[in-house]
Amino acid sequence: MKRQPIAIFDTTLRDGEQSPGCSMQPQEKLRMALQLAALKVDVIEAGFPVASEEDFAAVSLVARRVKGPVIAALCRALPLDIDRAWAALKEAARPRIHTFVSTSDLHMTHKLQKTRAEVLAMTREGVRRAAGLCGDVEFSAEDATRSDLAFLADVVAIALEEGATVVNIPDTVGYTFPEEYRNLILALRERVPALERAVISVHCHNDLGLAVANTLAALEAGARQVECTVNGIGERAGNASLEEVVMALRVRGEHFPYETGIVTPELFRTSQVLSNITGVQVQPNKAIVGRNAFAHESGIHQHGMLANPMTYEIMTPESVGVKTSSLVLGKHSGRHALAQRYEELGYPLEKGTLEGVYKLFTDLADHKREIFDEDLIALLYDGITED
Ligand code: KIV
Ligand code: ZN
Repeated sequence: MKRQPIAIFDTTLRDGEQSPGCSMQPQEKLRMALQLAALKVDVIEAGFPVASEEDFAAVSLVARRVKGPVIAALCRALPLDIDRAWAALKEAARPRIHTFVSTSDLHMTHKLQKTRAEVLAMTREGVRRAAGLCGDVEFSAEDATRSDLAFLADVVAIALEEGATVVNIPDTVGYTFPEEYRNLILALRERVPALERAVISVHCHNDLGLAVANTLAALEAGARQVECTVNGIGERAGNASLEEVVMALRVRGEHFPYETGIVTPELFRTSQVLSNITGVQVQPNKAIVGRNAFAHESGIHQHGMLANPMTYEIMTPESVGVKTSSLVLGKHSGRHALAQRYEELGYPLEKGTLEGVYKLFTDLADHKREIFDEDLIALLYDGITED
């Protein structure tokens, strides 16, 4: 099966940074961007240069220092924003101006206070200006999934006429459903034939917990760029999580004939670098990179894992950069895992000893959330005394 390449556009340093508690200094952005380059993302959106002097400095630092990926900067479709984005980007080996305007009536009326005609004109002038500065221009129709389809198609057609090379259809407020999003992309392709010569991008927020599902649905409809963030950080409930999209495509390759260039063994390290920089910890049950993603506590699962890890794991921990799976000892654990841990600690147990120690272990686990190796050693001596 011939696999279609999917570009990974990482916006951890822009949309991700807009997450409460996740703002980053220029040097921190550089550190994260170097790790994203090691992960081999295709595009790094480094920031929003008009937003502050510091963000301008961060984008220009990343543009000068990070080689490999395209470096993008966000700007509204306004002359000052576009010029500022270009000034920050211009030393990048592969710069991209990413300009956007809202297209839903709700946003146009209440946020922009612009008519549809004015937004069409902003799109034309903004994309034209950006294309006059940079050969790579991405246009985003903010709140696309709540926009009138015919109007959205007109905006997209104008952006393409003026030189946009990538067109992004964001689900800005995480409102859409997979089937609906798939149909939206298909409908736009039908209404705007010029889209076939551009890259269609998708950008999903996670307000209903559907960001990854929506992203995958859009790929099936022809999108070829995914916008996402490490650990899924981002405005409100966050953005589609990079590691989840990448591993869904990898693990279910028979269902999705696509491939990314991501070096998946760098995923865990990338997640840790981000947490380290921001101080925001990953939730333990986070898919792929959470502390519990490869941890097993129940006796039945542990028994299965010891017999064959595929019984309870759909990818190897090594494939995402986690050293090994762990059999966590708690009140649901069984004799097999307990015996194995004692063996690893250098105390292989006889069957009779195991039974006694197991009883002491379950009594302790009923009262203690986590059982450490020191607890096990102490129990062992209690068990031996009792024998
Ligand atoms: O969510 C959104 O619509 C955005 C755009 C600016 C791309 O972040
Ligand atoms: Zn966004």
